[in-house]
Amino acid sequence: MAFERIKLRRVSGSLGAEVRGADLRGLDDRTFDEVHRALLEHEVLFFPESGLDDDAQMALAHRFGKPSVFPLLRVMGATGPTFQVIEDGPDSPNAADDWHTDVTWTAEPPKVALLRAGVVPAAGGDTMWGSMTAAYEALSPAMQDFLSSLEVVHDNESFIRAAGPKMGDTEEAKMILEQLRAEYPPVTHPLVRTHPETGRRAILYGGDFMRRVVGMSEPESDAILAFVSDHIDQSRFQCRWSWTPGDLAIWDERSTVHQAVNDHFPQRRSVHRCVVDGDRPFFDPERRAEPRAGG
Ligand SMILES: [Fe+2]
Repeated sequence: MAFERIKLRRVSGSLGAEVRGADLRGLDDRTFDEVHRALLEHEVLFFPESGLDDDAQMALAHRFGKPSVFPLLRVMGATGPTFQVIEDGPDSPNAADDWHTDVTWTAEPPKVALLRAGVVPAAGGDTMWGSMTAAYEALSPAMQDFLSSLEVVHDNESFIRAAGPKMGDTEEAKMILEQLRAEYPPVTHPLVRTHPETGRRAILYGGDFMRRVVGMSEPESDAILAFVSDHIDQSRFQCRWSWTPGDLAIWDERSTVHQAVNDHFPQRRSVHRCVVDGDRPFFDPERRAEPRAGG
């Protein structure tokens, strides 16, 4: 189906498209449907100089579903959807410079993320995305079948380790993080997930949140996770966006990984992020979908 309201320019061969022609502050239903369809096809969309503020970004998140309460902020008392303003600078080096999918240590990780650039460094500070659909499809049928049979335990150990110092390592911070650990215990996800909307298969890669492959010895599990980690880290699966203040990226958390390139330290960079609740990842051996038409 063609796009009538929006114009797309693909930014790589695997995933990503820049979108023109959508006024994000007041999307009519038909235009939103096209944006949604483009997201499922291209996995990450870029809206240069979107003109959004935090409220408008949150309103847009609502169009995709229920904006999430970030677990740490929920434990700290937040009841409504939350924004995270992530700031890098001399005192807070970027900590998201490894491939990951957001918050896979929860039973129902987010389905969509919306990230808007605030302060942008003079050079550097790009974000990269990888198509886990393309990474899955590039595997041999034998490896596809094998990896599809596996489940992986994800946990929040690495998140908690990084959060402690950022929260000042106080007694109160320790208690909050203990509560987070108690309320969000390790969770098992399939290593290959079926996309609930498109039916396509994608590797579910949680980066440092992945602890071990269920039913395997440690050396076996380490070898499999090391293979997956190497496999997804290929330039042919990737795209990259160089930010201008106000640019908005929307990505499908169910089929992509991302990382913030850490080449701007100690320059400042800030991004405004909100995510939308997802559902429990699953693998359906019966369901197969047509490959994507475009990257
Ligand atoms: Fe992230």
